[in-house]
Amino acid sequence: MNRKFKRTTVTAALPYANGPVHIGHLAGVYVPADIYVRYLRLKGEEVVFICGSDEHGVPITIKARQEGISPQQVVDRYHEMIKKSFADFGISFSIYSRTSSKVHYETASAFFKKLYEENKFIEKTSEQFFDTEANQFLADRYITGTCPHCGNERAYGDQCESCGTSLNATDLINPKSTISGSQPVLKETLHWYLPLDQYQPFLNQWILEENKNWKSNVYGQCKSWLDQGLQPRAVSRDLDWGIPVPVDGAKGKVLYVWFDAPIGYISATRELTPDWEKYWKDPETRLIHFIGKDNIVFHCIIFPTMLKAEGSYILPDNVPANEFLNLEGDKISTSRNWAVWLHEYLEDFKGKEDVLRYVLCANMPETKDNDFTWKDFQSRNNSELVAILGNFVNRTLVLTQKYFDNKVPEITGLTAYDQEVLAEIPRIKENLEASLDNFRFRDALKEAMNLARLGNKYLADTEPWIVIKSDKERVKTILNVALQITANLSIIMEPFLPFTIDKLRKFINLRDAGWNLLGNAEILKPGHLLNKSELLYEKIEDEAIEYQLQKLARSKAANEAAKSPVKPGKANISYDSFATMDIRTGTILAAEKVAKTKKLLKLTIDTGLDKRTVVSGIAEFFEPENIVGKQVCILANLEPREIKGITSQGMILLAEDKGGKLVFVTPENNVGNGSEVK
Ligand code: 2FM
Ligand code: ZN
Repeated sequence: MNRKFKRTTVTAALPYANGPVHIGHLAGVYVPADIYVRYLRLKGEEVVFICGSDEHGVPITIKARQEGISPQQVVDRYHEMIKKSFADFGISFSIYSRTSSKVHYETASAFFKKLYEENKFIEKTSEQFFDTEANQFLADRYITGTCPHCGNERAYGDQCESCGTSLNATDLINPKSTISGSQPVLKETLHWYLPLDQYQPFLNQWILEENKNWKSNVYGQCKSWLDQGLQPRAVSRDLDWGIPVPVDGAKGKVLYVWFDAPIGYISATRELTPDWEKYWKDPETRLIHFIGKDNIVFHCIIFPTMLKAEGSYILPDNVPANEFLNLEGDKISTSRNWAVWLHEYLEDFKGKEDVLRYVLCANMPETKDNDFTWKDFQSRNNSELVAILGNFVNRTLVLTQKYFDNKVPEITGLTAYDQEVLAEIPRIKENLEASLDNFRFRDALKEAMNLARLGNKYLADTEPWIVIKSDKERVKTILNVALQITANLSIIMEPFLPFTIDKLRKFINLRDAGWNLLGNAEILKPGHLLNKSELLYEKIEDEAIEYQLQKLARSKAANEAAKSPVKPGKANISYDSFATMDIRTGTILAAEKVAKTKKLLKLTIDTGLDKRTVVSGIAEFFEPENIVGKQVCILANLEPREIKGITSQGMILLAEDKGGKLVFVTPENNVGNGSEVK
């Protein structure tokens, strides 16, 4: 690291609070950022790690509309969920805030006001798309159409996710409102623009000349933007959700989400400490933004222009953006439920946080898009974490327990081979530092694993379990060396595998070992007492992987079904045929799973006529305890049938959605049991 810096401010992209976090977010942004911050902390450097929920903008209002709830309800729900899953996954933010906080409103408003008062904006009336059916202007994602650059027919009004180009809504070919589906009309409206064109000479110099060391994907995208020539960019929107534009006569206008969100990094730092300015204004602070590739233009061009225009802030030193992670060969998609959701992973793989951290780091999409597969996840766990790291540590600790009562034995004499092995550790440290300092996380992890590999090879070569029979003195040295490698592993692996290292540190009874000890061959002193140890990792069996693959198969099936038209209608029947069916309302009095089946529930129904038993194939969709008391409709005169030894008397009416999910057909208002359905 460049020594002119005193401290580092690390930010991780603020996730939109309109859905849970998935592995794509983690591999792209939060895992690398967390590794980097843990590394700096271990080195004793001063660092703040800033994040929070991005709670404004059209993605939030669209979600609210879809679910029939308010935007505030959307962000409250997801903010809590995201915050908890990050914490449970060990992402060690100094603060996880949110852009609906009071501090943020004040900070973002003051920022805008300063630029406004210093005439840094252009005020301009222009024609923008308006939905006459919904009676509102259509900003950003409220409008879709064909991308003029790549032809993607589902580009948004602010960006094409296919080619990554940032767009103005009026650039789109065949624009359509996502609210009503109608063709929008153009209508005049006043907005404030950041004149990016005026800052082009500064950006050319700052990025293209002074930041040639940025990752090539980042530098390349910036260069292509700059080569195209920058245009003024609106920083306000006609929307009813967001931070009101803090100037007179701006009723109904809010700050553009991409104006307020990055200021969220500053607001969160203010919330964290009264001493926040040193993290944002001191030229001896290094600012690093961790983001995904779709955020490059905002963090490398627009936000730095805002900071430059404001005048009192530092600019980012680096923006190590990653490419995208795919899942089983297909693009991760929230709307298609094609994702591994962090909160579900944490439920399904309790205590295996580090396995996912490891796999996402090993497969990080650093220079190109990359693929996550469950088979690879299983194999990296079983043949790397279990077989290399876990195996080495376990053998070392178990043998020390067995031969030396859990006390670190002394060195009785180092052979040339021992010395060679120990000399590898500082070399590994050097390589790893070079990788981490340059944001090459995959290489860094490989290098850290090389230390575990070295340990395994050392034990295999020296065979203490055989030598013990003839030369216990020699085994003392062997295990001392193996224990020093273990202690070094407990430092070098900490940024990558914090949960594992927490355990390992307890096993080897080593607290507070910082990066400065790494490379040292005498971390554990002879006579030092170790604690009882357990296995660090366990094998992941095929069943667990199969379960995840089935989940994905269900998403795929649901997506296919959603694409297919509704089932064709059936042939007409006479009214008399219909009238033969005795359909009644009834209430579920009791519900229980039918033993040894996955799909069946045994229900006791009060039909008004009687209380009877009905067996229904709904166990995959309802928990028994959640449906007791529910009023349903029942075909009461269906011939009784024996199902799994139970006599089922009737059939509950259910509607099946396109994805095969069943829901009850329920009276709109509770009516008495036994009411006829006609
Ligand atoms: O792309 C996104 O998910 C945005 N919510 C990232 C915002 S980063 C920052 F600027 F706040
Ligand atoms: Zn495009």
